[in-house]
Amino acid sequence: MLKLTYVSHSTFILEDGQNTLIIDPFFTGNPTATISIDSVKPNFIVLTHAHGDHLGDALSLAKKHDALIIAVNELANYCAANGCKAHNMHIGGAYNFPFGRLKFTIAHHGSSTNDGQYMGEPAGVLINMGGNLVYHTGDTGLFYDMKLIGELNPIDILLAPIGDNFTMGIDDAVQATKFVDPKLVIPMHYNTFPVIEADPNEFKSKVEKIGKKCVVMQYGETIVFDE
Ligand code: NI
Ligand code: MN
Repeated sequence: MLKLTYVSHSTFILEDGQNTLIIDPFFTGNPTATISIDSVKPNFIVLTHAHGDHLGDALSLAKKHDALIIAVNELANYCAANGCKAHNMHIGGAYNFPFGRLKFTIAHHGSSTNDGQYMGEPAGVLINMGGNLVYHTGDTGLFYDMKLIGELNPIDILLAPIGDNFTMGIDDAVQATKFVDPKLVIPMHYNTFPVIEADPNEFKSKVEKIGKKCVVMQYGETIVFDE
């Protein structure tokens, strides 16, 4: 069983009944988050990159709940230097955690903190949890290796940005869905700020036109997936 909750933006909570993992926990300064940060008690925090809308509340949340931050080396070191438990990884590497196997993938983007320190490469992430394989692409433009990622990994749930400007827009995210060939795609990273306004229902109808399934999750919505 995998319980998937969409906070908003690129923030997702994954639960398997024993572990609570949050990806890119962005609450403070996020105008679309409806879930209170006080109700989230993660034991794992996965970061795709260091931009403020992804690193978000990771440091305070990790310290409060003694959660392990999982990130690429440079960002993991930064979290450790700021008093958090961190597991250093890098792109292409996988590791077996108590919740399942996690692997970082490439992402075409940047990764610096709000005060301008560069934090290594941005990443996407493959997470095996509760009998489901989730691919959160992080912030990225479209790239052809998504096809390889999909060929090598039977993706159940693809989390893909559609907001354009900083990441893929709708049409590139449709192409990404074609490449990855997941059982289901869920759009993210849109409508949080005016510059990334996008219509998720336009994305959904374009995805359905290529024969794939799309669910537009509401802010705070939870979906339970069987094994
Ligand atoms: Ni970013
Ligand atoms: Mn972003």
